Amino acid sequence: MTEEPKPPATTTDAGIPAESDEHSLTVGPGGPILLQDHYLIEQMAQFNRERVPERQPHAKGSGAFGRFEVTNDVSRFTKAAVFQPGVKTEMAARFSTVAGERGSPDTWRDPRGFALKFYTTEGNYDLVGNNTPVFFIKDPLKFQHFIRSQKRRADSNLRDHDMQWDFWTLSPESAHQVTWLMGDRGIPRTWRHMNGYSSHTYMWVNAAGEKFWVKYHFKTDQGVEHFTQHEADQMASADTDYHTRDLFEAIARGDYPSWTLHVQVMPFEDAKNYRFNPFDLTKVWPHGDYPLIEVGKMTLDRNPTDHHAEIEQAAFEPNNLVPGIGPSPDRMLLGRLFAYADAHRYRIGANYKQLPVNAPTSPVHSYSKDGAMRYAKVSDPVYAPNSKGGPRADTERYGTPAGWHSDGEMVRSAYVDHAEDDDWGQAGTMVRDVLNDAERERLVDNIVGHLLNGVTEPVLKRAFEYWHNVDKDLGDRVESGVRAKQDEKDPKAAEQANPARESMQRKA
Ligand code: NDP
Ligand code: HEM
Repeated sequence: MTEEPKPPATTTDAGIPAESDEHSLTVGPGGPILLQDHYLIEQMAQFNRERVPERQPHAKGSGAFGRFEVTNDVSRFTKAAVFQPGVKTEMAARFSTVAGERGSPDTWRDPRGFALKFYTTEGNYDLVGNNTPVFFIKDPLKFQHFIRSQKRRADSNLRDHDMQWDFWTLSPESAHQVTWLMGDRGIPRTWRHMNGYSSHTYMWVNAAGEKFWVKYHFKTDQGVEHFTQHEADQMASADTDYHTRDLFEAIARGDYPSWTLHVQVMPFEDAKNYRFNPFDLTKVWPHGDYPLIEVGKMTLDRNPTDHHAEIEQAAFEPNNLVPGIGPSPDRMLLGRLFAYADAHRYRIGANYKQLPVNAPTSPVHSYSKDGAMRYAKVSDPVYAPNSKGGPRADTERYGTPAGWHSDGEMVRSAYVDHAEDDDWGQAGTMVRDVLNDAERERLVDNIVGHLLNGVTEPVLKRAFEYWHNVDKDLGDRVESGVRAKQDEKDPKAAEQANPARESMQRKA
């Protein structure tokens, strides 16, 4: 018989051997606990400090690690090291829902976060996208209000569809994304079965200094699959963490998920007169105008071993842009360049970039210094400019920012509309030209079910108008669907809206 290997001896956090895993130090078996039981105190104190604040949006999620491999030559568009032919780059990914808290069900209808960190040779590049190519709003001033409308009320602490539709119907720019959200892709079957999009337009700059506008599309190699509302409701109670479990177990059994990255590339000068404002986050660029160009493949093949250290404390930030990649005039993106690092300093601490998951694998020569929990050593000189051999910015190589010409009076105004810009057109195209009959049917059912779940007049009337604006037939079907259910006896309508809750309430 082979003997089990002896486990290591328990120690305190200071590495001192512990006397017991089970018994506190007391004066006799019935006596008081002693203050000198430092191991007990350390265990209790550490436990009280285990949680860091959850992310404000996107609190529920998980992730994995892997690599990105370039399979095509896009060096004519960008000099970014990560996208040069044949380059392989280690990376981290985190997927999430937006509105729910850390313990909320993975299968709630919501956009999914698709956050990536590439540990490139020229610093960390973060692409913090969603599984949707558009967003609900186009100005960062509305973001906080939007998220509050999706989370919980002040009085009851309940989520409230009336509040959600109140915001959406008063923000018609949301129509494209809400159409998407209410459709099949509003509840992916798993994270492995959804696409990821940059949503925003970014700038790419090649070695000759030529500039391009790009949008990223990570297409799942597993195929797009969804849950119906009913399946998702069942799953929310059967397995709250279904998507988390699915990703972890797939990787554990060697079934590594992958996504093929494509980009749409728009020549710099096209932006001025393109039929849609290319920086408006509520619009896509139709593929017919700017076809997809393959770039490479991302594969996830390593699970975290410590979720808290590697995923909960992972800090993704759209401001992590590397040479060859820059922002665009998309106001939402420009707002996000501030928001994330600020959130990390609050949530994790000033030196969050020193945690292994956030630390670049390329050398750091910054002048940042001190602060809570810093452990990477700083050396003199601690100021620039200096004549003491400290780091110097290589302005000859990196000195030209990826930017654009900008001039004008200070204003608070909407974007300038391009020829075909409006709030409804692209949403209507999706309903009429992309969805088939069965998908349209489910879209109507999902919207009707959502509206019947507590949306009151006059918000309801505005919601009918909203859907009429997207597509007349869709609007008619939504209105008649809701009115028909309202005409039935109330308990039946409620049963349609949330059968599980209603039947439990009846039993109670
Ligand atoms: P295309 O026919 O070239 O593309 C349609 C796109 O719709 C495909 O990317 C497809 O993704 C996606 N799609 C299919 N079913 C659904 C669904 N149920 N929910 C959401 N997306 C779905 O058309 P255009 O590029 O001209 O765009 C037409 C409309 O399609 C747009 O107004 C927009 O609403 C939508 N769309 C456009 C995208 C773009 O970047 N151009 C991206 C996604 C949607 P897949 O290839 O994976 O099947
Ligand atoms: C998370 C702000 C728009 C995708 C977050 C967080 C904040 C935030 C503060 C929490 C960060 C953390 O604590 O780690 C904003 C603001 C926006 C905006 C101010 C608009 C002005 C968007 C858009 C997308 C997006 C348009 C997608 C295209 C994400 C994702 C996460 C996230 C994926 C989770 C990242 C992770 O997994 O850690 N956002 N956001 N956000 N946001 Fe946004």
